Amino acid sequence: MKALVYGGPGKKEWKEVPNPKLQKPTDVIVKVETTTICGTDLHILKGDVPAVTPGRILGHEGVGTVAEVGASVTNFKVGDRVIISCIKSCGACKNCKAGLYSHCLGEEGVSGLGWVFGHLIDGTQAEFVRVPYADNSLHLMPAGTSDVEAVMLSDILPTGFEMGVQYGAVKPGDVVAVIGTGPVGLAAIITAGLYGAARVISIDLDKNRLEKSREFGATDVVVSGSPKWREEVMAMTDGAGVDVAIEAVGVPETFEMATQIVRPGGHVANVGVHGKPVSLALENLWIQNISISMGLVNTNTTPLLLKLVESKKIDAAKFATHFFTFDQFIDAYDTFSRAAETKALKVVITHKW
Ligand SMILES: NC(=O)c1ccc[n+]([C@@H]2O[C@H](COP(=O)([O-])OP(=O)(O)OC[C@H]3O[C@@H](n4cnc5c(N)ncnc54)[C@H](O)[C@@H]3O)[C@@H](O)[C@H]2O)c1
Ligand SMILES: [Zn+2]
Ligand SMILES: [Zn+2]
Repeated sequence: MKALVYGGPGKKEWKEVPNPKLQKPTDVIVKVETTTICGTDLHILKGDVPAVTPGRILGHEGVGTVAEVGASVTNFKVGDRVIISCIKSCGACKNCKAGLYSHCLGEEGVSGLGWVFGHLIDGTQAEFVRVPYADNSLHLMPAGTSDVEAVMLSDILPTGFEMGVQYGAVKPGDVVAVIGTGPVGLAAIITAGLYGAARVISIDLDKNRLEKSREFGATDVVVSGSPKWREEVMAMTDGAGVDVAIEAVGVPETFEMATQIVRPGGHVANVGVHGKPVSLALENLWIQNISISMGLVNTNTTPLLLKLVESKKIDAAKFATHFFTFDQFIDAYDTFSRAAETKALKVVITHKW
């Protein structure tokens, strides 16, 4: 089969590799029909994730058809169309039972970490992928839902919703700020309305993305490059700050920005993946009764989000901006890695089987 293989920092190749085989009775082999690229894949290619070693097939998002099933898989059969969650989940360990799939104790990849695809085991940017703990890590595609919509449920929609909206404890009437309007920030914006946010302020350096964020539900936009960005945000509240500040970038500056606009009693929800230490002005913040949350997505809300996508309450197809076929994988990476120029949000790559 063909797959997108990591070759060390800065190196990737679309090349012939052996097909995956069932290794455990709980595995399924999925024939991949649609996949996409995540900002995290770009981090890996920069060499920011040293656990990813040369030879690894990248990708943790995908939709396809079950091609083979292990002996103990009960929820899926050959021919089923499925969505692959970016997080493995054995469904049986203490953490999975508590909904903390991100820290699944199953041994696949490594015990205690849910994100293994395209990281510690081969991923979804391939013609076939082996899915461990398939009964709990796959979701049946409802009829009437397109691949383009469904692939947004592998990672970005649960990430924005769980790590942004749920961990940020958005409640009816809240003023929510989302810093960073990439696919993940936009997923937080589109799902903030589910919990009754009254006002959603999107903040970014990129004016194109800010304008786009209005289509996802942002009521106000602020260009963070402007020296008065904070005053602009404060003027949109009663002067005390936002109820929930969601960080969806992953750099120290934007985390600090979130702490500078949150009101006393409010929440800072960090979604971004950080590679550097961040300073926390506890000397100012301690007295403000602020909660700060962070984490790796669990994907335990995927069934709930899938129902909302299926019933068209969430228009997931909106995230897709560019379309490629599997033989154009390298072009897809090129377009996605120059998102500021190409205006790419999610690039969708499909296999014409
Ligand atoms: N916690 C999780 O489980 C999880 C899962 C998936 C992705 N992520 C992380 O979420 C973050 C967002 O992902 P994405 O794919 O949307 O990323 P992205 O790179 O597409 O988007 C980031 C956005 O932040 C903006 N930005 C950069 N610097 C800024 C600044 N100083 N002020 C305001 N905006 C700024 C960029 O213009 C861009 O629009 C990343 O760090 C990603 O790794 C986390
Ligand atoms: Zn991702
Ligand atoms: Zn588990």
